[in-house]
Amino acid sequence: MSENKRFLISGAGLVGLLIAQAFKARNIDFVIFDRDIDVHYRENAGWAITLHWALENFKSLLPPDLVEQIYAAQVLPGFHEKDTGKFIYINAASGDPVVSIPPSKRLRVRREQIRRMLLSGIDVQWNCKLDNIDTTNSQVTVTCSDGTVFTGDVLIGCDGANSMTRRIICPENGQLYQLPVRFCGSRVKMTKAETDQIAADFDPLLFQGTVPENNTFFWFSMLATPEYTQEEDVYYAQVNLSWNVPDYDEPFVTNVDKTEAMKVHSQGLNPKLKWLVDRAVEDPDTILEINLCDWPVVEWPHQTQVLLAGDAAHAMTMFRGEAGNHGITDAFELMKHIDEYLAGRKTWEVAAKDFCSGIKARAAPAVLLSRQACLDAHNFSKIRPDTDSPLLSMRKNTK
Ligand SMILES: Cc1cc2nc3c(=O)[nH]c(=O)nc-3n(C[C@H](O)[C@H](O)[C@H](O)COP(=O)(O)OP(=O)(O)OC[C@H]3O[C@@H](n4cnc5c(N)ncnc54)[C@H](O)[C@@H]3O)c2cc1C
Ligand SMILES: *[C@@H]1O[C@H](CO)[C@@H](O)[C@H](O)[C@H]1NC(C)=O
Ligand SMILES: *[C@@H]1O[C@H](CO)[C@@H](O)[C@H](O)[C@H]1NC(C)=O
Ligand SMILES: *[C@@H]1O[C@H](CO)[C@@H](O)[C@H](O)[C@H]1NC(C)=O
Repeated sequence: MSENKRFLISGAGLVGLLIAQAFKARNIDFVIFDRDIDVHYRENAGWAITLHWALENFKSLLPPDLVEQIYAAQVLPGFHEKDTGKFIYINAASGDPVVSIPPSKRLRVRREQIRRMLLSGIDVQWNCKLDNIDTTNSQVTVTCSDGTVFTGDVLIGCDGANSMTRRIICPENGQLYQLPVRFCGSRVKMTKAETDQIAADFDPLLFQGTVPENNTFFWFSMLATPEYTQEEDVYYAQVNLSWNVPDYDEPFVTNVDKTEAMKVHSQGLNPKLKWLVDRAVEDPDTILEINLCDWPVVEWPHQTQVLLAGDAAHAMTMFRGEAGNHGITDAFELMKHIDEYLAGRKTWEVAAKDFCSGIKARAAPAVLLSRQACLDAHNFSKIRPDTDSPLLSMRKNTK
């Protein structure tokens, strides 16, 4: 018989909450805590993510009433029923498509809405920022910066790309690798007429491109329509701009630094796109610099007492849109091994080791493919129909 374990989950993001839902469904003893001060703190973290190859595993971990809400979180309502499927990569100076390929089955959803859905029925301990881990006895003890202490048998670090859990248990090699690229993203308000024009010229959902002369990368994707904004003629899109910075040192400090850089680097864009960046810089508060970093190690000590999952285990850049899909797969695989442990088919040591070797084999190569995709997105010579770049290969379903 397997002994009942108590799990501590650090981080109530996509992956931590998904694991919490699966634990709840199995009556497993757990506590989940997050550094955010309360549930509303990240309500407007306006990103969208694409669920593709992990969609079925995602659904399998949730109760049926929550599964329906995934479809309601789509950036374009009902899009999954009419995805006419085209994934285009353009020359961002001329506006002409360079590569146009059928996408894999996909669901483009608002991340904040998915997180809200995953929170239902889960009691998160907010305002608990993990700050110390003690694994010296048979238990794991976590101390938060406000002094709160949690004790359990296993800690699952789901605390994101910059994971404190990872940095504590891997003092030597837990830090992120910085890519030589600077990235700024912004949420842009649009009208219906403007949205329709973009859809007619490029694509209704998302597209990306590179300026050949200096390899500036441009990304457009829809975020919300009036069905979600509840305001007539109010649409939102995500506009990202990124460029090579061989000697990247520090993130921008002020809004002026960000807007000036975006102005300079939008110069080569086709006028049908450049106005989107012009609008973004009018509202500097919406501009966010994202540090392009990754962690290809995907291996850590104390594996029977501390596990990592999601971005904490395999931080990667978003140029293949895969990180969330890997995080969901981590949760799915973890539950598979835990179910075998609970059924008495594996000892805890074997279940934990199997999870760790599986995640390393799957995610370490994925981190490096995303790194290459990021570099290639800023190198126009790699954007060709016959390319073997991982920037475009997954879209062709060759994973
Ligand atoms: C701009 C952008 C676009 C993306 N697009 C896609 C996409 O199209 N497709 C895709 O598959 N993936 C995409 N991703 C990645 C995807 O969003 C992440 O992989 C996913 O959200 C990771 O979930 P997570 O639970 O591991 O981490 P997160 O969602 O980052 O959650 C981590 C949680 O841990 C908490 N936390 C942090 N530190 C502590 C601490 N010390 N103590 C307690 N709590 C802590 C945080 O508050 C947070 O709630 C994108 C990411 C970004 C940034
Ligand atoms: C740009 O921003 C969107 C947010 O909608 C995000 O999903 C996407 O991954 C980003 N893409 C890249 C390659 O920068
Ligand atoms: C990029 O190239 C375009 C076209 O040659 C040019 O107009 C623009 O100024 C360049 N931008 C940068 C940052 O070099
Ligand atoms: C683009 O890729 C080519 C071929 O690998 C390489 O020689 C070149 O230096 C790269 N350019 C940039 C800007 O990275």
